[in-house]
Amino acid sequence: MSAASSETVPFGIYIHWPFCLSKCPYCDFNSHVANSVDHVRWRKALRAELAHGAARHPGRTVGSVFFGGGTPSLMDPETAGALIEDIKSFWPVTDDLEITLEANPGTVEIDRFSAFAANGINRVSIGIQALNDRDLKFLGRLHSAEEAMRALDVATSVFDRFSFDLIYARPEHVPKAWRMELREGLGIANGHISLYQLTIEPGTQFYTLHQRGDLVVPDEDLATELYEITQEETERAGYRCYEVSNHAKPGQESRHNLVYWRYGDYLGIGPGAHGREAVVGADGNITPMAVRRHRAPDIWLDRVEKHGHGTQEETALEADERLLEMVMMGLRLNETIPAARFERIIGKGLGDVLASDRLETLIESGDLICDSSGLRATEQGRNRLNGVLAYLFDHAV
Ligand SMILES: C[S@@+](CC[C@H](N)C(=O)[O-])C[C@H]1O[C@@H](n2cnc3c(N)ncnc32)[C@H](O)[C@@H]1O
Ligand code: SF4
Repeated sequence: MSAASSETVPFGIYIHWPFCLSKCPYCDFNSHVANSVDHVRWRKALRAELAHGAARHPGRTVGSVFFGGGTPSLMDPETAGALIEDIKSFWPVTDDLEITLEANPGTVEIDRFSAFAANGINRVSIGIQALNDRDLKFLGRLHSAEEAMRALDVATSVFDRFSFDLIYARPEHVPKAWRMELREGLGIANGHISLYQLTIEPGTQFYTLHQRGDLVVPDEDLATELYEITQEETERAGYRCYEVSNHAKPGQESRHNLVYWRYGDYLGIGPGAHGREAVVGADGNITPMAVRRHRAPDIWLDRVEKHGHGTQEETALEADERLLEMVMMGLRLNETIPAARFERIIGKGLGDVLASDRLETLIESGDLICDSSGLRATEQGRNRLNGVLAYLFDHAV
């Protein structure tokens, strides 16, 4: 059934804080600008939905907690603290429980890092995005490069573990400039860095500009060159590309994100949060479920206050859906999807579940490796993963 039912992958908890100080023009995350936020009300609602989730999943061992957003560094540190205490009272936790907070490098947020640490956060993931003011402005960011540096300085002194994000393949991003910027970033990094190619997401301001021809992103050849520079520079600095966009020194990988990529179970709390939950029925049978909360913050809040949870949709995952999700996630990693995971999650062996002629074509083209130990993507396959998946499953991914 679920990968985590054997507890090879610890249970993860994701908590979504949907508010930001402003909306970035490239961002399609569930983030909203609110005039005011009633923190006491939000704290109560998040705790209520967490308690509802805990009642459905007794006895799991929690290995990671992730506060994502939006901008969760804008929440009251006491709210994070109360949720962390609740988690520890509901479930056993691993000795090395990872508790990450996504943070923006604005002054308000930086000044709260110590308070977050005092409330139990032990890792931050900071959205730096670029290391020069011109590009930060273009990306609609409220912070300067100087503030970004200060955020990284404070993070270094407050947290044992931190990561930060940069976005590359920006308009007019030339290879030499990206190499220098990345070198600078890697000089400050502390074991983990996320490097995302700018994507133009429908519904964003950048999408409208792009459609009009007013925003031009690097073509495929240039994007590939920038990707290759990314791999070269990170490797040179001792970072392993353990996932398409994530690079870490040994042992510094994001344990929470590994839960997603290894197709473990996780509970999603807050507006728009998704969960993958193995629900144990009255008959003792385990049903893997996809759970999705109401996306709009006010609707979610209203539902939680009325019903104790903001679930909008809950569906049992069929074997073919589980297969697709597990392979889509697992091939992102620089590791093999173990053959045993196919048996456990799909109930069938690796050879029985994948269209073998398509699989063979992808093995011959050097994109995938499949043997008795399991299935994995080569570096080439990961570089063009969407195309590989679309071909493997014979539809658009
Ligand atoms: C939820 S957001 C980050 C949280 C935090 N509010 C921030 O902006 O720093 C997660 C990360 O996704 C990346 N991201 C979001 N939209 C993107 C896009 N269209 N293209 C590339 N990266 C994107 C950014 O690097 C961002 O830091
Ligand atoms: S990138 Fe971060 S700060 Fe900007 S709108 Fe998205 S979630 Fe908010």
